[in-house]
Parts: sequence; structure tokens; C-alpha cells
Amino acid sequence: MGLDYSKNDLSGKVALVTGAGQGMGSAIAHALAKTGASVVVNDINESTADSTAADLRTFNSEVISHVANVVKSEEVDVMLERVISKFGQVDILVNNAGVLRPTALVEISEEEWDYVVEGNLKSTFLCSKAVLPLMQENGWGRVINISSSAGKSVSTIGGAHYTAGKAAVLGLSRHMAKEVAEYGITVNAVCPGLIETEMVRSTISRERTDQYAEMFPAKRLGLPNEVADLVTFLASDQASYITGASIDINGGDLMI
Ligand SMILES: NC(=O)c1ccc[n+]([C@@H]2O[C@H](COP(=O)([O-])OP(=O)(O)OC[C@H]3O[C@@H](n4cnc5c(N)ncnc54)[C@H](O)[C@@H]3O)[C@@H](O)[C@H]2O)c1
Repeated sequence: MGLDYSKNDLSGKVALVTGAGQGMGSAIAHALAKTGASVVVNDINESTADSTAADLRTFNSEVISHVANVVKSEEVDVMLERVISKFGQVDILVNNAGVLRPTALVEISEEEWDYVVEGNLKSTFLCSKAVLPLMQENGWGRVINISSSAGKSVSTIGGAHYTAGKAAVLGLSRHMAKEVAEYGITVNAVCPGLIETEMVRSTISRERTDQYAEMFPAKRLGLPNEVADLVTFLASDQASYITGASIDINGGDLMI
């Protein structure tokens, strides 16, 4: 099952997915490649970025992997220079890279606060700032920011810095959407609930994961490819009048 990619033809488009070495980012990069988009696989981790990129080439998608820490403006700028020299444009930006720590507020150090808030928020700001002028020039663009149900409520497994960072991504998304709508650019946030990825596996035990699943109306966690299908729809022409929205994908865990 899943999205009918034949109705979502993104051939000729160039997509940049941050944090695409594993988890949701990798699934999103795969889904966009299946629609015919050329894909830039970014991650801070070289081996996972390379392995996602190698997989994508099997779909005949034009792919580059680029290692960059997207909270560093110099690294984002170098990445964009490379992408422009290879593809000349970026049509779809998926701000997926993010970090989580499960620390209680009174235990959060200043360094950890900055790491988590910047990893979710500054990364989204820097990549959007670098890419939006290209989209404005083209008169078409899609920015999809991966927030979280944490951004609308309280994180299930992360700390207050994660909740605050993801809530801020929602504000940033709305503001960006308003500024760039007249250029044919949509900006939307996606708010997943608990999704089966390394972020969850490395934070809580299998037993706790199963307990959460039991509490959710859908009685299970979400899958990375379910989020990827939503992102691919938002990236398509079919979603051209959806902007400034935050879309929940959480098996009914939180309904807003
Ligand atoms: N898994 C969940 O339950 C869940 C739920 C809601 C939202 N999210 C969000 O979805 C996104 C993807 O999460 P995931 O579960 O796939 O996580 P993950 O930890 O499995 O993967 C995140 C990827 O991002 C990369 N990354 C992190 N910081 C980076 C940086 N500064 N520069 C470049 N790459 C960086 C990591 O190396 C990793 O490959 C994150 O923004 C996360 O906060 C996850």
C-alpha cells in the first residue's frame, strides 16, 4: 500500500532532505526519489548518508550525499554551493534533522539546552534561509518542516528543550509561510507522534515502547514511510493551496 507515486510526479524537481542518513529522513528521501525527484541526502554522519544515497540510486534518481552539520551556517552555505553547482536549484526542502534528549528540566545543562533547541530550530532556520531565495527566483517551492506532536503538546519521551524547540518550529513555519506564499512557495509543518526509528529505540526500552503503543488509539507506533508519504504529498502540486499548516500524523494520540 502507500501513496500512488504515479500521481505525484516530481521529476525535474530537486529535493534536499536534512538528516536523511537514517529513520524518517531516509524514508522521506526514498519516497521523493520514487516520485522522480533528484535528491540531496544530507546528514552529519557520512556512512549513513552514503548508504541512503547508494540505495536511492537504484531508483534511477540523481542523488548526491553531502555531509554537513546543519546548525552551522558555514556548512549549510558550502552544501548549498555544491547543490547549486550540481543541480542549479532546490525545489523541495525537508527540514528533518533533529535531536532529542530525555533529560528532566532541572537537570538540563546550558550546553544541552542549546544543542537540542538549535538542533531542531536553528537547523530549520539556516537551511530555509539558504534555500528560499532560490525558490523565490523560480516562483515555486515546498518547505516541509518536521516538528512533532511534542510541539503542540508535551514530548512523550523528550525533555522540555525538545518540546520548546519543536513548538518554535511551528511558529517559524507559520511565519515563513506568510512571507513567501506570494512566490508560489508553501511551507508546512508535519507533527509525527511516536515513530519507529533509532531516535525512539535509543531513548526508551522496547518494553516502554510497547506500553506507549498500547495507550495509543491505533495501538501501534507510526512507521517512517507513513510520514514520508505525507511529506511527498505536501511536496506535490496537489498540495499547492496548503500552507502555514501543521499536520498531525500520530495514530490518534493527539487530536488538534
Ligand atoms: N521518531 C519519532 O518518534 C519522532 C517523532 C516526532 C518527530 N520526530 C522528528 O523527526 C525527525 C527525524 O527523526 P528520526 O526519528 O528519524 O531520528 P533519528 O535520530 O533516527 O535520525 C535523525 C538523523 O538526523 C541526523 N542529524 C541530527 N542532527 C543533525 C545535524 N545537525 N546536521 C545534519 N544531520 C543531523 C542524524 O545523524 C540522523 O541521521 C527529527 O526532527 C525528530 O525530532 C521524530
